[in-house]
Order: sequence, then structure tokens, then C-alpha cells
Amino acid sequence: MSDSTTTETIIVIGASSLIAQAFIEQTCNQHAKQQPNLPAAESLQIITISRQASIKLPELMDCELTDSINHQHFNCDYQQASIEQCVTDIAAIAGNVTRIVMCNGILHSKNQQISTKEPGLMPEKRIEDIDAHSLEQLFYANSIVPMLWLSALTSLLSQARHKVSGEQKCVISILSARVGSISDNRLGGWYGYRASKAALNMLIKTTAVEYARRLKRVKLIAFHPGTTDTPLSKPFQANVPPGKLFTPTFVASQLHQIMDSIEPDGEASYLDWQGEPINW
Ligand SMILES: NC(=O)c1ccc[n+]([C@@H]2O[C@H](COP(=O)([O-])OP(=O)(O)OC[C@H]3O[C@@H](n4cnc5c(N)ncnc54)[C@H](OP(=O)(O)O)[C@@H]3O)[C@@H](O)[C@H]2O)c1
Repeated sequence: MSDSTTTETIIVIGASSLIAQAFIEQTCNQHAKQQPNLPAAESLQIITISRQASIKLPELMDCELTDSINHQHFNCDYQQASIEQCVTDIAAIAGNVTRIVMCNGILHSKNQQISTKEPGLMPEKRIEDIDAHSLEQLFYANSIVPMLWLSALTSLLSQARHKVSGEQKCVISILSARVGSISDNRLGGWYGYRASKAALNMLIKTTAVEYARRLKRVKLIAFHPGTTDTPLSKPFQANVPPGKLFTPTFVASQLHQIMDSIEPDGEASYLDWQGEPINW
């Protein structure tokens, strides 16, 4: 079990995401740079969760894993019982949880590891494209999975050993999308993805109301990364204006800056990659 007084814990859910991997890499690099100035006992624990059996930091990343960084990986199928079991296991080893990033999201089944038995999933262009099974998949991955994690992690963040209080804050960023903004919807289309991200935003906002009472030092962010060069955006990159297709490294560094500077204020924030608020 980690010594909770000296270990900072960062949890990354959906860790195979390219944005997640860039975020982890930068977290490691930041820690390696700060390390000479930190007391010897201060260590960083990175907990990754993914459908992938393993996320090997040194293989994936050009980051120096010093003795003061330790990594634990949990394989999860994102069913409620598995998520709850993961959180029970995480609670047994975690130190002070200061950041949680949830990257789960699907838009299409090309290049994404949805079972090949499933019919292809592509964003709807017109209302006749609506398909019940595709909607179920989108809502499960984009809205329900992050909410199941929030629900399970609430008990961990409320436990005395991990309780976020005093000066310590915990920032939870959940990858949403601007198309989930109901007030911003002028283009239409992409019914299921939009609606599942709008539902995610509502779930985050509702959680923030409860956290304002129960977990005042936890800040929730619904984060829009901008169009980022990952498998998720691949089929839709052709019309992205020059300079508007971001690298995962750029987006992760913007997210780092936002999470560093933001303070808990009893509300959820819906922010883009520049840290600018988006209307819900
Ligand atoms: N790329 C963009 O242009 C863009 C724009 C706006 C918003 N976003 C959002 O950013 C987030 C990260 O996406 P990305 O661009 O980094 O894409 P990515 O590299 O394709 O990553 C996909 C992510 O979704 C998870 N995932 C895939 N299939 C899933 C399923 N069936 N059930 C649950 N989780 C599943 C993966 O988790 P595992 O580790 O478990 O495989 C991984 O975290 C998503 O929420 C996406 O909606 C991306």
C-alpha cells in the first residue's frame, strides 16, 4: 500500500487514448523535472485503466521513469461491476488523488476497437440514419462509462484516507466535445455523438451540484480538446482548416495548464483547449 502522505496519485481512465498517453508522458516529464526540488520521499503514482491488457509507459513514451514514479495498470471492460471492483482495488493502493482524467469516447467504429461482430458505427448525416444499437453504444461509451466512474470514485474521494480537503484539490477532467453543447448546435447531424456528449455534460453538471455539498475541493471539468489527430477524428480530418488539427501533445499540455491553474468553485466548468468557457 502506498504511503498516502507522500504519494501523489494521478488516475487516467481510457489510457489507450492518444490524448491520455500524451498527458501521462507530460505528467512523468514534469515530475522528473521537479524531482530535484522535491523531498526524497515524495513520489508520483500513475494509475492507468483501459480495455487494453497493459499500458507500458516506458515503451509508449519518451519519458524517464525515475525511481519516484510508479505505475499500476488495471484492465477493465467498463461494466459497472468491473468499474466498482477497479475502484476498490485502487482505493487499497492510492495515495492523495490530485488529478483524474477520463478519455473514453467513441464516434465511429472505423479504427476503434468495437467488436467486429457489430455493424459499423458512423455518425448520422440525416435522421433516417438513426439506429438504436448505435445510439446504445454511443451513450454507453460516452455518457454512462464516465458516470459509472464518477459514481464509484466518489466513495474513494470521500474516504478518510483519500479525502480531498484543506489546501489539497482534486481536478477531474472528462473529455467531452463542443458538439455536446445544446446552445451551440447550429450544424445538426451526428445525433448520437452530440446527444451522448450533451448527456455527459448534464451528468457532470449534476455531479458538481452534489460535490458542492459533499466534496468541496473537487473540481469537475468537461473538456473539449479541439479536433485532435487521433483515431477518433481520422475519418473527419479532410475538411479541418490548416492549423486546426491539433497534436495530442499540444492538447495534453493545454489540459495540464488548465488543471494546474483551476480552483474548485462548487461548479463544473465546460472548457475548450484554450481554457475558454463553452456555453452548455
Ligand atoms: N480527437 C478529437 O478530435 C476529439 C474532439 C473532441 C472530443 N474528443 C474526445 O476526446 C476523448 C479522447 O479521444 P481521442 O481523440 O484521444 O481518441 P482515441 O485515441 O481514439 O481514444 C479512444 C478512447 O475511447 C476509449 N474507448 C474506445 N472504445 C470504447 C468503448 N467501446 N467503451 C469505452 N471506452 C472506449 C478508449 O479507452 P481504452 O483505453 O479503454 O481503449 C480511449 O480512451 C474522447 O472522449 C473524444 O470524444 C476528441
